[in-house]
Amino acid sequence: MRKVAVPVLLTIVFSVILVQLFERVNLTPTLASYQGESIDTLLRVVLILASVIFSLVISFFLYSLISFRRQPGELEEGPPMEGSKALEIAWTIVPLMIVVGLSTYSARILFDIAAPSNSEQELEVKVTAFQWAWTFEYPEYGITSPELVLPVNRSVLFRLHATDVIHSFYVPEFRLKMDAIPGIENLIRIRPTTAGEYKVRCAEMCGTGHSYMEAPVRVVDEATFQEWLTKQTALTQVPVTAEAGETGAPSLITAEAGRQYAQQFGCLACHSVDGTKLVGPTWKGLFGHEVTLEDGTTVIADETYLQNSIVNPAAQLVRGYPNVMPAIYKDQLTREQIQAIIEYIKSLR
Ligand code: CUA
Repeated sequence: MRKVAVPVLLTIVFSVILVQLFERVNLTPTLASYQGESIDTLLRVVLILASVIFSLVISFFLYSLISFRRQPGELEEGPPMEGSKALEIAWTIVPLMIVVGLSTYSARILFDIAAPSNSEQELEVKVTAFQWAWTFEYPEYGITSPELVLPVNRSVLFRLHATDVIHSFYVPEFRLKMDAIPGIENLIRIRPTTAGEYKVRCAEMCGTGHSYMEAPVRVVDEATFQEWLTKQTALTQVPVTAEAGETGAPSLITAEAGRQYAQQFGCLACHSVDGTKLVGPTWKGLFGHEVTLEDGTTVIADETYLQNSIVNPAAQLVRGYPNVMPAIYKDQLTREQIQAIIEYIKSLR
């Protein structure tokens, strides 16, 4: 009797301690989405089950270790053991039930959170992941932004895309995570429930700039969201300068157009315009100033330097900054767009 009672008692004590510990330790950041609620419940169920199983194994192990240890002077072999059919059946059936039960439960949660919401109010956001930044497009409004702004309590359908390698869209506070894969559109639905500031973090090793691949997330009330939309829409209306270009077509080479392109192509995810140090050098006060390169030489940030830095970023690395800027912009941007971005940098005194 004692052989079972003591380890069972120990199991109960250890389980209670472990479960209390898990309840008190903050394993996850603030919960900020509807879908995250069922995921947190699942996590809690798994932790409780794991605590009990761990305690059970450890209790019987410790009890046997201490209670059945060799006594001083004891030299003979232990008694021969035959298997126990009842025990073997039990330790096959019970884990099987636990595994099948957990799978069914988590599969149900997965179907639940992936199900289309019945509100027609659903907001669509096209997410583009690339080495090493994010852009967020709101197709209904014709807006592209380096920052993800979402209205609180409205379901959002994210369409995930990648242009180069596999990335993973993850906002820890929303709990859900989904890969962004080149050539494939992955869908994920999230309804933010708590206003606040969070971060998208890339959760798939995607190259040297992986750890820098973040984007700000702002969950705001509906009024603030509408305000933001209006502001962004206004920014999209790029003024066309009166003077005609070489071909007679209106020229878009203005600082304002450059600002729009910089935002659209994700430049501002890495380059601040207010002097803040991000992944790349700030653009504020860059034009016309001396820049120290990785090899110790200095150059003046003139138009040629800026153009080279956009087209071939690795050629003139600025000291103190990682070589993470992708060399894709000479294909992604037209000459006019590059020129406009340079005009924008020039305007940031
Ligand atoms: Cu993108 Cu890691």
